[in-house]
Amino acid sequence: MTKENPKITVFGLGHIGLPTAALFANSGLEVTGVDINKETIELVNKGISPVIEPGLDQLVKKAIIDKKLVATEDGITASKYSKVMIVIVPTPVDQYKRSDLSAVRSACDMISKGLKKGDLVIIESTIPPKTCEDVVIPILEKSGLKAGNDFGVACTPERALPNNTIYEMTHNARVIGGINKESADKAVNLYEYITNGKIIKVKNLITAEMVKLMENTYRDTNIALSNELAMVCEKLGIDAIDAIKAANHHPRVDLHIPGPGVGGHCLSIDPYFIVEMAEKEGVNSTLIKNARAVNEKMPEHVAEIVEETLNDAGKQIKNSKIGILGVAYKGNVADARETPAEPLINLLVQSGAEVYANDPHTSDDLIKSFGATPVSMEDALKCDIVILITDHDEYKSIKPDMIEKKIFICTRPVLNPEEFKEKGVIFKGIGRI
Ligand SMILES: NC(=O)c1ccc[n+]([C@@H]2O[C@H](COP(=O)([O-])OP(=O)(O)OC[C@H]3O[C@@H](n4cnc5c(N)ncnc54)[C@H](O)[C@@H]3O)[C@@H](O)[C@H]2O)c1
Repeated sequence: MTKENPKITVFGLGHIGLPTAALFANSGLEVTGVDINKETIELVNKGISPVIEPGLDQLVKKAIIDKKLVATEDGITASKYSKVMIVIVPTPVDQYKRSDLSAVRSACDMISKGLKKGDLVIIESTIPPKTCEDVVIPILEKSGLKAGNDFGVACTPERALPNNTIYEMTHNARVIGGINKESADKAVNLYEYITNGKIIKVKNLITAEMVKLMENTYRDTNIALSNELAMVCEKLGIDAIDAIKAANHHPRVDLHIPGPGVGGHCLSIDPYFIVEMAEKEGVNSTLIKNARAVNEKMPEHVAEIVEETLNDAGKQIKNSKIGILGVAYKGNVADARETPAEPLINLLVQSGAEVYANDPHTSDDLIKSFGATPVSMEDALKCDIVILITDHDEYKSIKPDMIEKKIFICTRPVLNPEEFKEKGVIFKGIGRI
C-alpha cells in the first residue's frame, strides 16, 4: 500500500476526524473529508479549522493550499473515488446510556454505495465490542461485496488527547485489528504515513474495539476510586490530595486525581459501551456501573460542599451569587461535552442561587445554555462564593486577595490551600479539609 498512495476518504471532520484527514493530506495522500455539517465543509475548504486545536489550523491550511484535502457532503462519490474509507463520526450514548451508532450506520451506508473490490474500510470511532461484526459489516455488505474476501475491514480506535491531538496522533502507540491479516497489514501500512508511534496489531476487530474501552474504563474507575477516597477523607479530616500523592510513591500505585466529575466524549461514555455489551452477554459489570455512578454524583457533592460552606458562613444558597470558574470539562480546552459544570450549574440554579460563570475557552452562548450568566473572571471572583471547576491555566495564578468575599471552593488541586487560608479565605475542595 505504501507505493500505491491510496486515495482516502475520512467520514467526520470533528475533533478527531479533521486532524486525521489533515495529517494524511500533509503526508502527501489525497484526502476527501466528508461531513454532514455544511459550515464545517465551507470552513475546511477555505483552509480554516472549525475545531480549536493547537497546530490544526496550519495543517488544514497547508492541505487546502496543496490541494491534498477537499471537504464535501457527498460520501457516496467520495467513496467511489477512494481506496480507503475511514469512519470517525460521533458515537454518543442515548438517554438510557445505550450506544447511539446512528452516525456510524449512516457513514457506512454511504460507503456501501461507493464500495469497490479491494477497498479497505477503517473504523476509528469508539464503538462497543462486536459493532464491526454486528453493525458495520452487514451495512457494508449491502454493496453485494463480501467483507474479508472482496474488501477489507480494520478497526483502530483513536486515543489522542484534546489540546495535544496532533502530537499524540503522530506519537502514541496505535492498536489495529482487522477482519483478516491482509486488512490489518494494509491499515498498518497506511497509519505509518502519519505516526512514528508503535503500532500494535491485535488478533481481530473485537479486540481492537475492546482495548480502547478498557483504557477509558480503567481511568474512569480509577478516578471514581479517588473520588470516593476523597469523600471519606473529607469526613475524617485528611487532605486526600496529600494522601494520594504519598500513596503514589508506592511503585505499583497510580491513583488518579479526584475532581468535580468526569466529562468529555470518552471517559464518561465509553464505560457504558462495556456495560451494554456485558448485559447482552448476561454479565453484570457492577464495578464499572458503580464507578460511573460515583463520578456522575460528583457535581451533587460539589453542590453540597457549596451549601454547607455558605451555611457555615451564616449565608443561604438561595439568592447567593455564585461565581463559576471554568465550564469546559478539562483545563485549557474549549470542549464542554459531558462537563460536570452543567449539572452543577443546574443544581445551584434549582437551589435559588444566581450563577455567574467565566470560561476563557468556551463561548458565552454555551454558558447561557447551561443556565448561567457569562461574566469576566474578575466579576466571577466578586461573587459570594467562587467555585473553580476547570483547571485552565488562567486560573492558576489566582491569589487570595482576588477572592473578594473570601469563600473559595477549588475542585481541582491547582492552588495551595494554605496560601489562601493564611489570608483568611475559606478554602474547600474535593478531598480538602
Ligand atoms: N474527542 C476526543 O477526545 C476523542 C478521542 C478519541 C476518540 N474519539 C472518538 O472519535 C469519534 C469522533 O469523535 P469527535 O470528538 O471527533 O466528534 P466530533 O463531534 O468532534 O466530530 C464528529 C464530526 O462528525 C460529523 N458527522 C456526524 N455524523 C456524520 C455522518 N453520518 N457522516 C459524516 N460526518 C458526520 C459531525 O458533523 C462532526 O463534524 C467518537 O467515536 C469519539 O468517541 C474522540
